[in-house]
This record gives sequence, structure tokens and C-alpha cells, in this order.
Amino acid sequence: MSELGDLLFVPGPVNVAAPVAAEAAKPMISHRAGRFHEVFEDLRDKLRRVLRTRGEVVVFTASGTGAVEAAAANLARGRRALVPGTGEFSARLAETLRRHGAEVAVVEAEVGSAPSLEEMRERLEEFQPDIVAMVYNDTSPGVRLSYLRELCREAKSRGALTLVDAVSAVGGDELDVDEWGIDVLAGASQKCLAAPPGVSFISLSEDAVSSLVDEPTTFYFDLRKYLKFAERSETPFTPAVPLFYSLRAALTVILERGLERWIRMHMVRAAALYRAFEEMGFVAFVRRPYRSRTVLSFKPPRGVSVRSLRAALASRYGIYVAGGLGGLRDKIVRVGNMGPIGLRELITLVAAVGAELRRLGIRVDVSAAIDVLEEVLEGVGSGGG
Ligand SMILES: Cc1ncc(COP(=O)(O)O)c(C=O)c1O
Repeated sequence: MSELGDLLFVPGPVNVAAPVAAEAAKPMISHRAGRFHEVFEDLRDKLRRVLRTRGEVVVFTASGTGAVEAAAANLARGRRALVPGTGEFSARLAETLRRHGAEVAVVEAEVGSAPSLEEMRERLEEFQPDIVAMVYNDTSPGVRLSYLRELCREAKSRGALTLVDAVSAVGGDELDVDEWGIDVLAGASQKCLAAPPGVSFISLSEDAVSSLVDEPTTFYFDLRKYLKFAERSETPFTPAVPLFYSLRAALTVILERGLERWIRMHMVRAAALYRAFEEMGFVAFVRRPYRSRTVLSFKPPRGVSVRSLRAALASRYGIYVAGGLGGLRDKIVRVGNMGPIGLRELITLVAAVGAELRRLGIRVDVSAAIDVLEEVLEGVGSGGG
């Protein structure tokens, strides 16, 4: 293991650049005074630019689950919500909406896939939902809802609100909140934005603001309160100021490098990693149209235990990849492709996985895998660290 720390290829949290982490060590300030107001407004402005919205942005001292719950607690009661079943996180989204008083219908699909857009259209027609709630990138099987934009358009044209959990996609995949007609979008700090965990946020369109329920089923996440306090650049409750600093710094890096470039870096790296892992005998778990760009899931080569591979990578090299969730536990390996990962880290991962396979007696040409990796990245630059 390296004194420089672990190499995180889990789907969040991700390695955080030292200057971004160091922001959190700044002297404490009052969250009811001018200096905080500047930080808060700058943070919200940068989030608006990353999300591509002119709407409201509310920031929470909570992980991504808090942001999703805030959306549900302020919109669900008495409404009908339709959810495409994409995995564990769509199940959580459906359950969260249900607990906050929605009648929820889930359009199921086989594990590692999503219902087709056509099926979603049919269910929209039948169920007539008030809300269509979607997970853009379902982190559990690594499923990307590739028709998100089209489904949002359909939903809006029928007068439904669109609610998107984009926790594992914001900053790592294409997104245009206003242009795509997303009324509520939830994101978090610790994934493709490459900041420490603990801050999450939602965007709210005008339609969303005018649809907030009168008495939300939450006290802490009462969005009207957040919007009221935001008028004077404050949060209703004590914010995690150090994490606000860090997230602001992480967003500054992304915007200075260029948002398009940051997202493209994730896409190119995803293509390179899929190829390199396939070269070593792994099989992509998700069919191409729904394959995630930020969480890559693979069935391991025959005879390889996911649990042992993960344990060996962690203990020998300090490299962390994830296993599956729920029914996929120990069946798939998930490789997080989030944040400022460079060529050095990619080669280290591929070489370490290759070395472990060889230790298990599996014939694998590690240098061919590295060649494939470099071939895909070539000309584009690893773009990372
Ligand atoms: C799609 C998705 N939604 C929600 C969450 C929950 O986020 P958190 O763990 O920050 O609460 C995650 C976390 O992995 C996620 O991937």
C-alpha cells in the first residue's frame, strides 16, 4: 500500500485532489455573515453552470440520499409516480416516494437492463403519473438510462413533473437540466465532481417550485425554508462550511478545465477501461445501450471470485473496486470511473488486476490490455490527474 493513500475505483467517494481537500482546513467562519454569503452564492452559481440551469439550486449538508429524500418529501404526497426499474437505486427512489405518500408504479426490467422507451411510453399513457422519477445512472448494476432526455420530453408534454436522481452521473455524463426539461435533479459531491462526501444538492424548475406540497413530510428538508433562506444567501440550518469550500474548489477546477472536457474525459476513460477489462477476460454485465460511463460492471473471468479479487487488490496494492449490491453481491465487479483519474492510475489498476489473475493461474496478457487502454486514450489524452 502506498503512503500516498488508497487508489479508489469504487463508485464514490473518489480520490480528491490535495488542493480541493485542503480547502476544508480553512479557518471556520460564521454561516450568518458576509463571507459565507459569498461562498454560498459562488457555490450555487457554479452548480448552476455544471447542471446547466437557470433554476433554483438548493444545497444540503447531507449525502446524496438526503437530496433524493428532500425531493420526495416535498413533492410526493398524494401524487402518482412512475419509475423505470433500473436497479437498487431506482428501487430506493420508488420506496422513498412511497414512504412520502406517493402512489408508485415501477416498470420492471431484467437485472442489468432498463425498460425500453416504448414500454415507458405505454405506461405513461396507462398510469397517467404526476411525476416521472428516474435514476440517470443506476450505480448498482451500472445501468445508464440512455433515453433520459426523450423520456423527460414525453413526461413534460403530458404535464408530469420530471425528477432525476443523477447522483452518480453529474459531472461524468452528458446533462442539460433546462434543455432536457428536468424539474428536479439530485446530485452529490463525492462522485464525478471529485469533492469529499457530505454535500448534496437539487435543482428546481419553476414547475417544481410551484408544485411543492404545502406541508412536506420532513422538517430538516423543507424546501420552502431553504428557498426562503437562500434569498439572503444562507441555509436554514448549520451548513458543513468546510465541505462547501471543498466542493466550490472542485467545481472551479472542472469549470476552468472546461465542463465538456471533464465529461468527455469520463467517456473516453470508460471506453478504454471496458476494452482493457474485456482484453483480460472480463465480460461487461450490461448491454451496450444501457452501459454506464461512470460505473463499469463486469462478470469476472471463469474461476475468479469477486470477493477474493477485491480483497487481494485492497490488501496488496491499496486499490479498491466494488462488488455488486443485493442479488449481485459477489457476482459482478464494479469499477468506478469518476473524477480526476489519470493514465498512471488506469495502468496501475489494469496491471494489478492482471497480476492477480495470473496469480490465480489465469492466462492473461497484461501488456496487451495496457496497449488497448492506451490505444483508446491516445490522441485524446488521459485528461485526468
Ligand atoms: C444513483 C445513486 N443515487 C443515490 C445514491 C446515494 O448517495 P449517498 O451514498 O451519497 O447517500 C448513490 C450512491 O451511490 C447513487 O449512486
